[in-house]
Amino acid sequence: MFNSISSQASKLISLTRKKKHLDSKTKLVTITSGKGGVGKSTFTANIAFLLAQRGLKIAVLDADIGLANMQVLFNIKPKNTFFDYIDGNKSLNEVILDTSYENISLLAGKSGYQYSNHSNSFVFSRVVEDVISLDKYDILLIDTGAGLNDFVKEFLSISDNIIALTTTDPSALTDVYSLMKMLSFEKKRLMLCFNHTKNYKIGETIANSLVNLAKKNRLKEDFMVKYIGNVSTSANISTTGRLRKLFTKEFLEDDSTKQLQDVIKYLLKNIY
Ligand SMILES: Nc1ncnc2c1ncn2[C@@H]1O[C@H](COP(=O)(O)OP(=O)(O)OP(=O)(O)O)[C@@H](O)[C@H]1O
Ligand SMILES: [Mg+2]
Repeated sequence: MFNSISSQASKLISLTRKKKHLDSKTKLVTITSGKGGVGKSTFTANIAFLLAQRGLKIAVLDADIGLANMQVLFNIKPKNTFFDYIDGNKSLNEVILDTSYENISLLAGKSGYQYSNHSNSFVFSRVVEDVISLDKYDILLIDTGAGLNDFVKEFLSISDNIIALTTTDPSALTDVYSLMKMLSFEKKRLMLCFNHTKNYKIGETIANSLVNLAKKNRLKEDFMVKYIGNVSTSANISTTGRLRKLFTKEFLEDDSTKQLQDVIKYLLKNIY
């Protein structure tokens, strides 16, 4: 169970979300990991670019509470952050910022945000609901912070399309397994993607091992873990990151860009 989030409140949010989903074209996709530093933000910014290139209108929400860095990846200095909306100082439209990339808008986070300010009042879910209610974006991508703190749990509780990014590093796998365990209580499925993983097959083999482990430990039977692809380690990714550029834009022919295109293809066929 998402322990410290009251289950009743979580259900209520989920019901509201479902209703709004029926009325809105905006699909919600949340990227998370368990372990930190596995490449979530880089992955999120670059899938935003590839999706936007296909003509989809994308909003990205930087949900790494207290350590905002999406603005760095998109190379913008945000005038407003979505906390200005939470605090009632700006309208929603004022905190949805244009980026220099066509079809990509950003709800920027704020570094140094005080964790205790709004804890357990579901303010973050409400921001997500409000963006969905605008019915303006095809996809809202949420990049969570590392770990399974209450903020991450809140974002996970409202999302049915969750991508867990992991590396093959044992500690990353341990963390992603804990995430699987937690999500299996309340979700139908989890999409699993490997970063820093040379080929598709390696990711697939390890994903199968995780699924087998889940079966052995009798994680809920109808919970589905779906392997959706891999991204290799590429010097072009770290270089473009440092230069505040997106590798999928700068290096179209890079293996990692092609691998990410495959992930996008899967995603587009399978989000709800
Ligand atoms: N496939 C890759 N090849 C090479 N470098 C990568 C790759 N993926 C990510 N990186 C680099 O790894 C570093 C960490 O990436 P990133 O900040 O996206 O991770 P994160 O999971 O969002 O971290 P955090 O948990 O702190 O939010 C960055 O310097 C990024 O450029
Ligand atoms: Mg990050």
